[in-house]
Order: sequence, then C-alpha cells, then structure tokens
Amino acid sequence: MANSATASLLCTAAFLLSAWSASGGALNVKDFGAIADGRSDAAGAVLAAWAAACFSDGVTAVLVPAGNFLVGPVALRGPCKGPMTFRLEGTVKAPADPAAFSDEYWISFESIDQLTVNGGGTFDGQGATAWSRGGCTGASKCRIPPVSVRFSFVKWATIDGISSIDSKFFHILISDSEHITAQFLTVTSPADSPNTDGVHITRSSDITVAHSTVRSGDDCVSVGPGAAGLLVVNVTCGPGHGISVGSLGRYEKEEDVKNITVKNCTVQGTQNGVRIKTWRSNYASSAYNITFEDVVVKDAANPIIIDQYYCPHLSCNDQPPSRVSISSVNFWNIRGTSATKTAVNLMCSSANPCRDVDLRDVDIYYEAGNKPVCEFSNVKPISSGIMQPACSPSHA
Ligand SMILES: *[C@@H]1O[C@H](CO)[C@@H](O)[C@H](O)[C@H]1NC(C)=O
Ligand SMILES: *[C@@H]1O[C@H](CO)[C@@H](O)[C@H](O)[C@H]1NC(C)=O
Ligand SMILES: *[C@@H]1O[C@H](CO)[C@@H](O)[C@H](O)[C@H]1NC(C)=O
Ligand SMILES: *[C@@H]1O[C@H](CO)[C@@H](O)[C@H](O)[C@H]1NC(C)=O
Repeated sequence: MANSATASLLCTAAFLLSAWSASGGALNVKDFGAIADGRSDAAGAVLAAWAAACFSDGVTAVLVPAGNFLVGPVALRGPCKGPMTFRLEGTVKAPADPAAFSDEYWISFESIDQLTVNGGGTFDGQGATAWSRGGCTGASKCRIPPVSVRFSFVKWATIDGISSIDSKFFHILISDSEHITAQFLTVTSPADSPNTDGVHITRSSDITVAHSTVRSGDDCVSVGPGAAGLLVVNVTCGPGHGISVGSLGRYEKEEDVKNITVKNCTVQGTQNGVRIKTWRSNYASSAYNITFEDVVVKDAANPIIIDQYYCPHLSCNDQPPSRVSISSVNFWNIRGTSATKTAVNLMCSSANPCRDVDLRDVDIYYEAGNKPVCEFSNVKPISSGIMQPACSPSHA
C-alpha cells in the first residue's frame, strides 16, 4: 500500500512537472483529459488542473487553450498555496440545459487570495434555453438560473480581457469580495434576454469595473446591498437597462451601499441611463455618497431616475413606502437624449425623503422642439450649471 501510494505520488509529480514545463508555467487542462470537441465534459479536467495548481508550490496557473470546451458547473476553490491565474484562451461552453445545474452558478471562484482571470477567451453560458423559460421574472416559485461566472470571498483579483456571452442569469457576479478590478471585458447577450446583468456587485468593497462594453437584456452594471467603494469607469452600455444601484430594500438587514462612483460612461439605447431603485417594503438600509459623473446617455427611456416605488410583482397599493434612505447623490455632467418626455425623474419615498440630491450640468434633449421635463417628489433637488430640464422646487 505504502509503496504504491508513493509510486503514484511520484508519478503525479513527474507528470505535473512535464505538463508545467510544456506550457510555460501553466497546467494545461488538455493534459488533465480535457478534449476540445465542444461535447465531452471537461469539468473534471478543469477541476483536476485547478487542484494541482492550487496545492502545488510554484505552479500557479491553469490554462484553457484555444478550442471549444464543454464544461459542466465547477467551483474553483481556495485557499491556494500562492496567487492563482486562470488563463482562458479558448471558449468554455456551459451545458445548455438549466437542469444540469444544482447550484446557483456555472463557474465559481471561491475563497481565493490573489487571482487573475485573463487570456482573451470566452465564457459562453448558452443561455437561450433558460431565457425561453422566461427567466424567473414574475414567478414566485421558480428556480433562479445559474450565474455564469461568480467570484465570492475573493480578495485582490484582476479579471482582465475576457468575454462573456449568453449567460443564463447574471454574466458576472462579485459577492463577499474585496479589491477586485474587472477590466477590458466584453459582455454580450440579446436585448430580450431576462436578468442577464453584465456585472453585479454585492457585499463587496474596493471594486473597479473599467474599460468594458456590456450589451445585455438587463442592467449593465448593477450594485446590490453591501457594495462600498465601487468605481465604474470607461464603460459602454446598451442595449439593456443601464447602470443601476439597486434593487435595494427587498430583504431584511441589508448592508448599506456607499461610496459609489460612476464616471465617463456611455449608456445608449437602454431602458434607464443612471438609476437608483428601492423596493416598497419595511426593510431599512441606507444608500449614500453616490456620484454619476461625465455620463453620456443616448436615447434612454429614463436617463436619470430614482425609483423608490419599485414593486414589480405584488399588489402594490398594499405595500408600505420604501424605508431605504437615499442621500448625498450627485448627477454631474450627464448629457444626451431621452426617449421619453420625463428626462429626470426623482421619485423618493414619502416615508424617507431623499437628502442632498445634487444635479449639475444636466443637458438632456427630447425630440426637437419638445422640451423634456424633470419630475420629483419627496426630495428638494439642488441644481446648478446647465440644467435642461430644470429641476427647481418651483416646478414641483
Ligand atoms: C467611504 O469614503 C470614506 C471617506 O473617504 C472613507 O472614510 C471610507 O473608508 C470609505 N469606505 C469605503 C468602503 O470605501
Ligand atoms: C479611461 O480611458 C481613458 C482613455 O483610454 C484613459 O486615459 C483613462 O485613464 C481611463 N480612466 C481610468 C480611470 O482608467
Ligand atoms: C472616456 O471613455 C472613453 C471610452 O469609453 C475614452 O475613449 C475616453 O478617452 C475616456 N475619457 C476620459 C476623460 O477618461
Ligand atoms: C465618497 O466616495 C468616494 C469614493 O467613491 C470617496 O473618495 C469620498 O471620500 C467619499 N466621500 C465621503 C464624504 O464619504
């Protein structure tokens, strides 16, 4: 027994070393049995390569080379011995059938300190089967389809230059994490694909989403409870629902949302431009220090919107006004066109009026000759600079 265990260990070590030297320091999933035929499930090979890299000294990268790999749901977990790289050069495809997933993710990176995901490859969620079942919109009892790529309990990570297409639910979810930069991402799913948020961030701090393009059927970047210290910069969105803080206040004991900056972004052909959205409910939390700056909004139905009356499913008249308190929100240098007459719509809660909502240099056109309007309630917006439409309290 002892001898054969030793022999097999030595054999594994020799194998790892040869695999390592063959691919420039990365463990190639093909050396662990992955076949690039788009049909054979490479999940086992990906997991084995990850485990080998994670637990070895020195080898810290897993390579998915060029080619088309079917990969069933996998959780790539740490803690690992050193920093880890997941280099995706080819395409990984999820099983098309939502029934193949027992968890709420397809590929999950968990409990890792120092992670890089790069390589220019593509995560293909093969989502059409999930969308055609209507996602989970509106149904009370319905299994939520899996997120394509999830990062949870990850610290100090860079997600760089990868693509995500046709997720079944969110494309990328960052939760319970800190110090993550996601950049040069290309995220694509059809305008009518439900719940395909580009990047959703919750219970995480010091997160940057930069230099990316998101075309999807839902929010471009969405900010959930507990997001603190988030910078969204140089991101182009549309189609989809725009950049959104919320929905907040749906559940009890949500953590506050704070220190959010959205800067130099373009949002085009979307339902909303920049939005803060809270549910009608008794659950209290706060959202504050939120700045939307240098944003070009083209042809959005609601270019600037605060909606504290969100209530898509229930009989809304019975629901209490939102108890999420919104304060210190800046809309600075927001320019472009509105697809509807109400270019600025600030619907704050009657139970919890918004405080310190500052509009500066807002310049939004509706169709030629037809002036857009600003509507607001339960807030006294402060405005300065160019203001089209004007949001003076006298207008209320
Ligand atoms: C929010 O900003 C304040 C003021 O700069 C800072 O003290 C605090 O650490 C920030 N919090 C996060 C989570 O970014
Ligand atoms: C945004 O993009 C421009 C041009 O590529 C670049 O100069 C600038 O540094 C970027 N901003 C950030 C914060 O990365
Ligand atoms: C804003 O972002 C665009 C690309 O998204 C870039 O071309 C431009 O240089 C950026 N401007 C600044 C001031 O960062
Ligand atoms: C607001 O958040 C930004 C980061 O997004 C931070 O730099 C700034 O100090 C915060 N301001 C306050 C008053 O907390």
